[in-house]
Amino acid sequence: MSDTARTWHFNRRPDGDIASDTLALRAAPLPTPGEGQCVVRTIYLSLDATNRVWLSDWDIYMDPIRLGDPMRGFLLGEVTASRHPAYEPGQLVCCLGPWSDRFVIDGEALQPFPDASGLPLADAFAILMIAGPTAYVGMFDIGRIEAGDTVVVTAAAGAVGSLAGQIAKLKGCRVIGVAGSDEKCRWLTDDFGFDAAINYRTEDLVPALREKAPDGIDVHFENVGGEVLDAGLTCMNDYGRVVICGLISTYNSRDPVPGPYMFRNVIMRRLTIRGFVILDYADRYPEFHAALLEWMRAGSLRYRLDMVEGLEAAADALRLLYTGGNRGKLMVRIGAEPAQ
Ligand SMILES: NC(=O)c1ccc[n+]([C@@H]2O[C@H](COP(=O)([O-])OP(=O)(O)OC[C@H]3O[C@@H](n4cnc5c(N)ncnc54)[C@H](OP(=O)(O)O)[C@@H]3O)[C@@H](O)[C@H]2O)c1
Repeated sequence: MSDTARTWHFNRRPDGDIASDTLALRAAPLPTPGEGQCVVRTIYLSLDATNRVWLSDWDIYMDPIRLGDPMRGFLLGEVTASRHPAYEPGQLVCCLGPWSDRFVIDGEALQPFPDASGLPLADAFAILMIAGPTAYVGMFDIGRIEAGDTVVVTAAAGAVGSLAGQIAKLKGCRVIGVAGSDEKCRWLTDDFGFDAAINYRTEDLVPALREKAPDGIDVHFENVGGEVLDAGLTCMNDYGRVVICGLISTYNSRDPVPGPYMFRNVIMRRLTIRGFVILDYADRYPEFHAALLEWMRAGSLRYRLDMVEGLEAAADALRLLYTGGNRGKLMVRIGAEPAQ
């Protein structure tokens, strides 16, 4: 195998949307691993909405990526060499690592990938790494869903949203999804089992929510922000919970984002609004994985993968998340899965 690795680097800070020169792919010799380090060959890279946030100069929940640094993402890979006692060649690992086909990393930054036997590896990575745990924490811990609740999910046809809605259905809630096309709305009701769907591009959201949720909203699971969040706030019930999982409509904004204008409903409806970051829940991943694997194996969770081929396609593919161009959990196949 060649001793050169190809890696995407943060090349120029975007002013608004991610541009063709925001990231640059460079080749460099792979360093020799030091004591406690491993060499990892990447198999899958997860593309996540928050990747854009890491490229901003905002004060965020973790260190942003500095100009010139490797782009960072959630990865599944195979250890090919190890100088760390916990890892050996052939082992499947996941981590927050560089957008690279091969890299050297401290063993302490790796996690063994859970045993997902019986499931396709790509499916397991897509659901277990970020989207599934986020949907789980957002619905149970933050939204505190109860059977019979009316739940609204935005960006509902996406990776997190589609799982969040299905988890609420498994708990016995009535679930309404908001998505950006009629086709995605059909996925919600026909494939993912949502009770109703609203196309925010063609329907007036507040009347549509009042029609689809005539008794009001108990839990609003927000992935979008802006007008979509405002419409949800407008229709909340007393003591409702507003889960701020993501605000994707604002991640490319150059200017401060106004609103929400219906903020007064936090008092009028005695709401609880709470944001969360899934990275804070790392110690509970075994619990999330056990629940998600059980649902996946039982066929109770449906999902769509949008698989992009090749490391070189990663930067262009990331932009799909902010236009609605992705059709399911967006990820990149960078290397082959190990032979069984
Ligand atoms: N809190 C956490 O720890 C955490 C962890 C993971 C993800 N998240 C959040 O979860 C959300 C979903 O992320 P994901 O990775 O699963 O992506 P995703 O939902 O698979 O894809 C993003 C979707 O967002 C929708 N969207 C994009 N721009 C929009 C806009 N301006 N207005 C309305 N909808 C828009 C598009 O769907 P349509 O075609 O329907 O418009 C797009 O397909 C993001 O907000 C992300 O930040 C949070």
